[in-house]
Amino acid sequence: KGVKYLSDNNNNNGIITRVPTKYILPALDRPNSSEADHCTSTNLNLPVIDFAELQGPNRTQVIKSLAKACEEFGFFQLVNHSISRDVIGNMIEVSKSFFELSFDERAKYMSSDMYSPVRYGTSFNQSKDKVFCWRDFLKLSCNPMSNALSFWPSCPVDFREVAVDYSSQTKFLYLMLMEAILESLGLLEEPMGKLNDKQTWKDFEDGSQLMVVNCYPSCPEPDLTLGMPPHSDYGLLTLLLQDEVKGLQIQHQGKWLTVEPIPNCFVVNVGDHLEIFSNGKYQSVLHRVLVNSSKSRISIASLHSLPFNCMIRPSPKLVDEANPRRYKDTDFATFLEYVSSREPKSKNFLESRK
Ligand code: SIN
Ligand code: FE2
Repeated sequence: KGVKYLSDNNNNNGIITRVPTKYILPALDRPNSSEADHCTSTNLNLPVIDFAELQGPNRTQVIKSLAKACEEFGFFQLVNHSISRDVIGNMIEVSKSFFELSFDERAKYMSSDMYSPVRYGTSFNQSKDKVFCWRDFLKLSCNPMSNALSFWPSCPVDFREVAVDYSSQTKFLYLMLMEAILESLGLLEEPMGKLNDKQTWKDFEDGSQLMVVNCYPSCPEPDLTLGMPPHSDYGLLTLLLQDEVKGLQIQHQGKWLTVEPIPNCFVVNVGDHLEIFSNGKYQSVLHRVLVNSSKSRISIASLHSLPFNCMIRPSPKLVDEANPRRYKDTDFATFLEYVSSREPKSKNFLESRK
């Protein structure tokens, strides 16, 4: 029934005091196990990209910072983006309200079908996880919106309206970022700054968008478990909105570092599709989520990837004698199989695609 149910329904005066065995990680996989983890208290100031500045006279400079952020961290914070505080605040509020619904109401959206337009569930990969994660989620497919919408939760009453608004504005922001990323990879033709390859741009526009609303209730023994195990995201880019509670950590130079939430900003990260498309110039980065004993946390990830009927391959313009091709072509279905069968903690499927 998941962790929200567990923390809401227990017989010890309503307070859960121990993590059930199902959630206890082997010692080596726990948040503070390795030497690298002694740095968990180190907060990471991710590179900051100013979206408004990207649209102004300093664009060239910002594009350079964007390239540097993608190469060195695979992550950046996006500030001054075009999405209003209301749209963001409302999305966080309806997400919180959804997880406050009764378990029976939430359970209506459970599905084991990976292609279902709405999927409520728990842990990371519930059918495979030997140890469960301290996370419940609601996954909303946005493709095509006209089909998907009627399956989305109708309770809280304003859920659909708020989530549609949020998802379409996030998609727009994503496309503006992809344009900047193409420019940073040198793929826009001068002097017009146009992408010669119309099909590639259409693939980005028609690509799939999956919104994942994550709920991490407070956890009585946060050192024994994780909200999400180490993983990389499969798409081109992920735009992550987090509330004010810390939890996200990224692996950087062999250490786990905590990303400080900045209110109203997005944490953006490179996914596996972009790693392949850029022929390894920008690499997806492992990240994980810690839970804490006092606060419950909400995050909303918007994952943008290539369309389902598309081959995933390096851009031919980024392959030459100096930069030999680093990945094989993969069709989407095969790619998804790799993603769902891979062990957390590794990007091994990418290795096998070389
Ligand atoms: C994710 O990795 O998709 C979610 C990260 C988070 O909850 O901060
Ligand atoms: Fe992720």
